[in-house]
Amino acid sequence: MITRKTFLLWTFLLLALSSLDASPLAEEFKQTGYVEICDEERGTPAFESLYTLFDEMIEFVQTNPVWAQKLYMVKERFIRSKDRNYYSTDFFGLYDESKRKGRGQISFYYSIHFHEFICSRYPEFNKVPKIIHFLEACLEIQKSYGDVFEKAAAELGLETIFSSSYGRPPILFKVVKYFPSYAVSRPHYDGTAFSLFLDSTDNESLLLSPYKSSFTEGDFASPLRQFSRDQNQNSMLLIPGTLLTEFSIYPTPHIVTQSGKVRYASIAFAMRPNYTSQRTEHSPLPSFKH
Ligand SMILES: [Fe+2]
Repeated sequence: MITRKTFLLWTFLLLALSSLDASPLAEEFKQTGYVEICDEERGTPAFESLYTLFDEMIEFVQTNPVWAQKLYMVKERFIRSKDRNYYSTDFFGLYDESKRKGRGQISFYYSIHFHEFICSRYPEFNKVPKIIHFLEACLEIQKSYGDVFEKAAAELGLETIFSSSYGRPPILFKVVKYFPSYAVSRPHYDGTAFSLFLDSTDNESLLLSPYKSSFTEGDFASPLRQFSRDQNQNSMLLIPGTLLTEFSIYPTPHIVTQSGKVRYASIAFAMRPNYTSQRTEHSPLPSFKH
């Protein structure tokens, strides 16, 4: 009798534990690779105006290369500062790959601490509206997405991944412009805890696949969206990156396919404070045929 009772108790405990084990979010990442979230705060106007300011900054630094050099020099100084460790990455500032074969893109990696570093240490930037206005637009847009990352981490039972003296998840905010010459043919994983695709002027070019032990080109598809880019709302996609593998949450590979058009996109990355990347092998990714 005691043995039977003990057996039933163990069965109950195991069932309870296994249902706790796979949170609905972990299960969705496993099944589809992403979750779609409605951005109820921002839609077309906010992002269109960000892309206009981005274009104005690009034009300014391309016609005033001394400011492109200054931005590069500031980034080099920033990655030697203490605040860099909060983000555990060296990606900051402007990357002009518009002339690089196949890459055909210009991106900017924004973070609050990088912004503060520029304005406090190099006050001459405050007199350059084409740069400052773009940075201010980035500051305004990215600040509301920390809550999305905190909520996702809590749902997975991983609240501690963002613990640091700064108190909030470290966010890298990327704005990117793809040119018609863009022609990358292999998907990639993001070196992040989470990536949140906030907006793009062409959602269909983004293909992704849930994690698998092996991939073919046919595994990648453009997610069907419930929400659309509208005046007051937008469709965001949340995916896991490579920094959660130790918790058995595997990254979602993705690719922006060649569209022959200009495409703008905004992405928020949640990083891990003071994190040293572990050498983890993920499944190899296929090259797309053209
Ligand atoms: Fe990516």
